[in-house]
Amino acid sequence: MKDKKHLSVSAIENGTVIDHIPAKNLFKVISILGLDKIPNQITFGTNLESGKLGRKAIVKIADKYFERDEINRIAIVAPHAKLNIIKDYEVAEKMLVEVPDNITGIVKCVNPKCVTNVEKVTPKFKVIDKKNVSLKCYYCEKITDQEQMEYK
Ligand code: CTP
Ligand code: ZN
Repeated sequence: MKDKKHLSVSAIENGTVIDHIPAKNLFKVISILGLDKIPNQITFGTNLESGKLGRKAIVKIADKYFERDEINRIAIVAPHAKLNIIKDYEVAEKMLVEVPDNITGIVKCVNPKCVTNVEKVTPKFKVIDKKNVSLKCYYCEKITDQEQMEYK
């Protein structure tokens, strides 16, 4: 049950709250957004109760606002994430992530012989199914789907 009087992770004054991250993908979100490399104050909670997801995670990044393109990169690991832009302790704006048309980096091509797995070439995919997230490699044209997905 949600208890409005009690936040699992303290409120922030300014910044971005990313809510409804599947708990198992929290650290992928952190790595995709490069949160391990910035000096901002970051707080997170994981394995929090959530009706929809079973167990969810939440990340709060103080004094940081993301570009759309940047945030959509997390869609493959957190398709139902909700962003809250916080200004002066208030939720100024809410955003949902969208699965982008193309994915660069992040995911590994399923084909072991693909040039992106053999040489130092950044993987690049066309998203051919946004709902189930299925990716077609630009180089070898093999399809990588959700179950086979490994992350760079
Ligand atoms: N939040 C925060 N700091 C603030 C204001 C809000 O960290 N100063 C967080 C809340 O903890 C919550 C999220 O931002 O996780 C969204 O806040 P709010 O819209 O007030 O909560 P809900 O109505 O529960 O939002 P939703 O149902 O859209 O998830
Ligand atoms: Zn490939």
